[in-house]
Amino acid sequence: MKAILLAGGKGTRLRPLTLHTPKPIVPIIDRPFLHYQIDLLHQVPEIDEVILSLNYQPRRIEEIFGDGTSRGIRIRYVVEPAPLGTAGAVKFAERFLDDSVVVFNGDVLTQVDLGAIVRLHRERKAKATIVLTPVENPTAYGLVETDHDGNVTRFLEKPSPDEITCDTINAGIYVLEPDTFDRIPKDTAWSIERSYFPSLIERGETFVAYIERGYWIDIGTPTKYMQAHRDIMDGHFAIPMFSSGPAVVAAADGASIDAEAEIVGPCFIDEGVHVKKGARVGPYSVLGRHVRVEEGARIEGSLVWAGTWVGRDASVRNAILGRNCHLGRAAVVGDGRVLGDKSVLTDYSQL
Ligand code: GDD
Ligand code: MG
Repeated sequence: MKAILLAGGKGTRLRPLTLHTPKPIVPIIDRPFLHYQIDLLHQVPEIDEVILSLNYQPRRIEEIFGDGTSRGIRIRYVVEPAPLGTAGAVKFAERFLDDSVVVFNGDVLTQVDLGAIVRLHRERKAKATIVLTPVENPTAYGLVETDHDGNVTRFLEKPSPDEITCDTINAGIYVLEPDTFDRIPKDTAWSIERSYFPSLIERGETFVAYIERGYWIDIGTPTKYMQAHRDIMDGHFAIPMFSSGPAVVAAADGASIDAEAEIVGPCFIDEGVHVKKGARVGPYSVLGRHVRVEEGARIEGSLVWAGTWVGRDASVRNAILGRNCHLGRAAVVGDGRVLGDKSVLTDYSQL
């Protein structure tokens, strides 16, 4: 059995972070995002190959994952010549499929029971099975209505507020039967959400819903990307590093924290980081590899990517700093700011 990870989007809502780091490999704590999805696929031993469906900056992604040996699964890269949309991308990978295929949107962080989803798909002899999750506001997602027997009766992508009839949305995880791909035209931009799913309903094919009430988030906006980190540090999405209780200070071997620096968990400090005396790293902060925090600097609730330098007495609150940024002395970066790689803030600047 194969799995396709749809990871070819441009990640526009995460710009400027995604200009040099495509969304599938933005760091989550200390690992590229797709690591979490690939680990999830290990739940189903039958899945023996992951097809990474790429379009935007495929090289960067291939460099990280190689042939998959390091993740314990075979990885095949399928790169579209131009973006074909979510269904076009699946069609483009069709020649590599045999049996039922698991498809994931390459930006959802979740701990679903994938084995149970595959079992439901088989028990119901479904043509397609879709995972749904409840959200407060479905407008940014695909709204999915179901009947009492768990069949999908309506799929409406990005509904307007007056079109909302339920709270269940498409979680971006499917099991599909390749014999339904006949309706997707070749080499044409085509949408799973707007065309393929509605066609299953129109033709009366068995289209089954699996409702997931556990942790689920789409990391595709800065707010959600930060929220995912908070949720991990609060233990809502379990990873070993934060499993020992609240307010863990997780520091990698080889991080150097001066004795008079103040570190308040939950937070993560990666290898090669240097936090100098009198500096403060507050809750919900993540400092990537080789970040330097100079004397008296303050970082709180912020994600700081590798190689960034935070100058003396600088302050960063609830912000995201890309790679290799340079904040001068007493520079201030305020709530909600997102700085792209190599941004420079001169001494005493306020943002
Ligand atoms: N290969 C390839 N080619 N992948 C693509 C393309 C493409 O042309 N377009 C998008 N993708 C990938 C993206 O990289 C992403 O991982 C996934 O498909 C979904 O695209 P998004 O751009 O993130 O869509 P969305 O978040 O607005 O909506 C989708 O996800 C929601 C759940 O998070 C839809 O599937 C909604 O129905 C769903 O609720
Ligand atoms: Mg998305």
